Amino acid sequence: MTVSRSAVRSARGGRTLTTLALALAAALSACAPSPPAPKWPDFGGDPRRGELLVGRYSCGACHQMPDVEEADGMVGPPLATFSRRTMIAGLLPNTPPNLVLWLRHPQAVTPGNAMPDLGLTDAQARDIAAYLYTKS
Ligand code: HEC
Repeated sequence: MTVSRSAVRSARGGRTLTTLALALAAALSACAPSPPAPKWPDFGGDPRRGELLVGRYSCGACHQMPDVEEADGMVGPPLATFSRRTMIAGLLPNTPPNLVLWLRHPQAVTPGNAMPDLGLTDAQARDIAAYLYTKS
């Protein structure tokens, strides 16, 4: 809430701040491009392993994932901008523990939904979660 209030304030605060922010962003991006700051604190997942697992478990049969070959499924929601989703499966707030819970036990969270329990271990689910959170 603090973030959105300050966003509102700066939006109302006129152009000076926006102009300064844009100038700063342009100056920074002109130097060395740095990777985007992670949205979540480190929770022990490795996004590179997660990317491999997403291929191995054929998540793309049901989900669109632009960076993953043949991931054009239309059964579940697209995962392209997953880090910006506020809810998981329309039910759980989008946090790392909830995502790991969903990935491991979708049938326990929402019995009868079309995403099967895939038998992921906790470590595998963390890796996949770390990968999904790189998508914004
Ligand atoms: C057989 C189809 C199927 C497979 C395979 C599948 N999913 Fe899903 N997934 C779904 C469906 C359907 C939903 C929506 C469930 C709901 O909203 O109740 C979903 C929801 C999700 C969500 C929540 C998305 C959101 O925006 O709410 C994530 C994250 C997710 N799946 C990741 C994965 C990952 C990662 C894999 C592979 C390890 C995978 N899924 C495999 C069908 C599938």
